[in-house]
Amino acid sequence: MKKLGIYIHIPFCRQKCNYCDFYSMKWNDGSEKKYIEALANEIKTQSKELKGNYVADTIYFGGGTPTIIKHDNIKRIIDCIRDAVEVDKCAEISMEANPNTLTLENLNAYKDMGINRLSIGIQSLNDEILRQIGRIHNSADALGAINRALESGFENINADVMFNIPGQNVCDIEEAITKIISRGVKHISFYSLKLEKGTSMYNMEKINKIIMPDEESEREMYYAGRKIMERNNMFQYEISNFSNMGYECRHNLKYWKQEEYVGFGPSAHSFINSIRYSNPPDLKSYCENGLINNYERTIHEKLSEQDRMFEYIMLSLRLTEGLNLDEFNNKFDISFEKTFKAQTESMLKNLLMEYSGRNVRLTKKGMDISNYVIEKFLP
Ligand SMILES: C[S@@+](CC[C@H](N)C(=O)[O-])C[C@H]1O[C@@H](n2cnc3c(N)ncnc32)[C@H](O)[C@@H]1O
Ligand code: SF4
Repeated sequence: MKKLGIYIHIPFCRQKCNYCDFYSMKWNDGSEKKYIEALANEIKTQSKELKGNYVADTIYFGGGTPTIIKHDNIKRIIDCIRDAVEVDKCAEISMEANPNTLTLENLNAYKDMGINRLSIGIQSLNDEILRQIGRIHNSADALGAINRALESGFENINADVMFNIPGQNVCDIEEAITKIISRGVKHISFYSLKLEKGTSMYNMEKINKIIMPDEESEREMYYAGRKIMERNNMFQYEISNFSNMGYECRHNLKYWKQEEYVGFGPSAHSFINSIRYSNPPDLKSYCENGLINNYERTIHEKLSEQDRMFEYIMLSLRLTEGLNLDEFNNKFDISFEKTFKAQTESMLKNLLMEYSGRNVRLTKKGMDISNYVIEKFLP
């Protein structure tokens, strides 16, 4: 049977953060009820394709804020998944969490239902920055959430940390990462703030109400964070992800290795049999169709061999281990070395790429300008 990742999108938050354009809206009890019914139906509908063909070895609850909904409903969704497809007994089951919705009661219930990895949105430990970006928690709440998670027996914990925030400096980053690591967190997703169109911070920048850090300060914050993580045995395994050995996120690795996954809920994506599906980001129609048991993934695109190949190169080069030549050559039945000779040679000459055994990967310098390098492999 083939391996499969499962993504469940929970499109609710208590309040929208000023930088975020993930598909989510304000939570209420009525919407949660309707949504869970529709979600259960979508999973049931897919079971025909999945049962007997796949075994799920990762499940990921993302959002939005999955911890905002009742833990009984999370349990119900896990039960639906188990009815629809075989779940590996060692599956990684992750849950994204906002510090202020991570109660002890929730944590104990998650543990009992088999959730074994938490990803907590810490973002910063500077109260002024947290307020400015519209978070519903302060630094004490953030550290409290990590402590509660550890007390409840979770040891596989990720913290999301953001840099490049207006007003933030290198000391903020160093202090936050040092404190987070000293608590025993094993994984950090270290994101550079990107102003997304339509968000309040995007609009504020347009009218000069906020000023983004310049490129040099952005890099300084990145290097400062990376240095502390590396000194503490947190290895970079992807452009934005660092972890202790063995704590890499198995679910996210599936995206970067072009493995199969199926996503449920509005705005969720799937990649299965070389076809990319996406559910429209529309909760209302999702619930209406889902409640009459008639949910269809409306957007799909069969990737051409060339698209698949470019995507594979782009995703593999995000990983510090890079692209394995034998895997590539087997998968696409062509020689990477011959097909991309010109591009690779120029990157090697400019010290942006390097060979490591049968892998070709970006150097630290290459990682810094990964978009430029990846573009050179475009069809
Ligand atoms: C779905 S949220 C995580 C869980 C939860 N909703 C929370 O925020 O606590 C995903 C993560 O993406 C990152 N993120 C969201 N928007 C971003 C942006 N515009 N630029 C950089 N990182 C962003 C944040 O670090 C956030 O924690
Ligand atoms: S960052 Fe997280 S909590 Fe904030 S709006 Fe986005 S999904 Fe919701």
